[in-house]
Amino acid sequence: MRLIYATDYKDMCRKAANLISAQVILYPNSVLGLATGATPIGIYDQLADWYRKRDLDFSGVTSVNLDEYCGLEAAHKQSYRYFMETQFFSKINIQRSRTHVPNGIADPDEECRRYDEVIHTLGGIDLQLLGLGHNGHIGFNEPGPLFQKGTHCVELSENTRQANRRFFAHAEEVPHKAITVGMSSIMQAKRVILAVSGKQKANILKKAIEGPVTPEIPASLLQLHNDLIVVASVDQ
Ligand code: F6R
Repeated sequence: MRLIYATDYKDMCRKAANLISAQVILYPNSVLGLATGATPIGIYDQLADWYRKRDLDFSGVTSVNLDEYCGLEAAHKQSYRYFMETQFFSKINIQRSRTHVPNGIADPDEECRRYDEVIHTLGGIDLQLLGLGHNGHIGFNEPGPLFQKGTHCVELSENTRQANRRFFAHAEEVPHKAITVGMSSIMQAKRVILAVSGKQKANILKKAIEGPVTPEIPASLLQLHNDLIVVASVDQ
């Protein structure tokens, strides 16, 4: 594991974006595993900025997002497909047919199978970008008695629903279920970048990278990944 400390959110985003940009420059046909949430917004902004300056070309890139809420259509303003469109895809030259986000309104079991097949057919993920949940989740792999291997449908914990409440107008609108890629796809990614920002995440980050490997803190499994880069700004 490599730990890169950043001074603040902006610095964290620049450092993480640098790693992603190096991947895209060196391997233009990369499969990028992407995350949503607040953490990557500045990373996507930075990458889009470099694209605008013609320093980056995403035309050969394929993307595979980690998760999607069950019950939300792609056009729903809180769906993760919508998030990716507005925060990133619409600002770069990635081909839409090469962008993958789980379908939140498909039959969940079939969708999980299909999504694993998509990842398998692509030959896995070259670089996986992750955020860290307050409870140690990655993707929507929530704390529990065991690590879930494949893409699966998950009942979101109250902690996660609370944390994501800020993106919805009313608390009851926050979906109860989501589809998430499992720990196998994440662990099989050739490189993983865990991006973490904010003082309130310092404690869970410490547990994730220094504590015991346990499904109660899903991110702790990343300690066993042989190319994990943690980019963290957790001082403020
Ligand atoms: C989002 C995702 C989640 C978030 C995590 C942190 O696709 O998979 O694991 O990365 O909940 O969210 P933020 O960045 O909003 O604190």
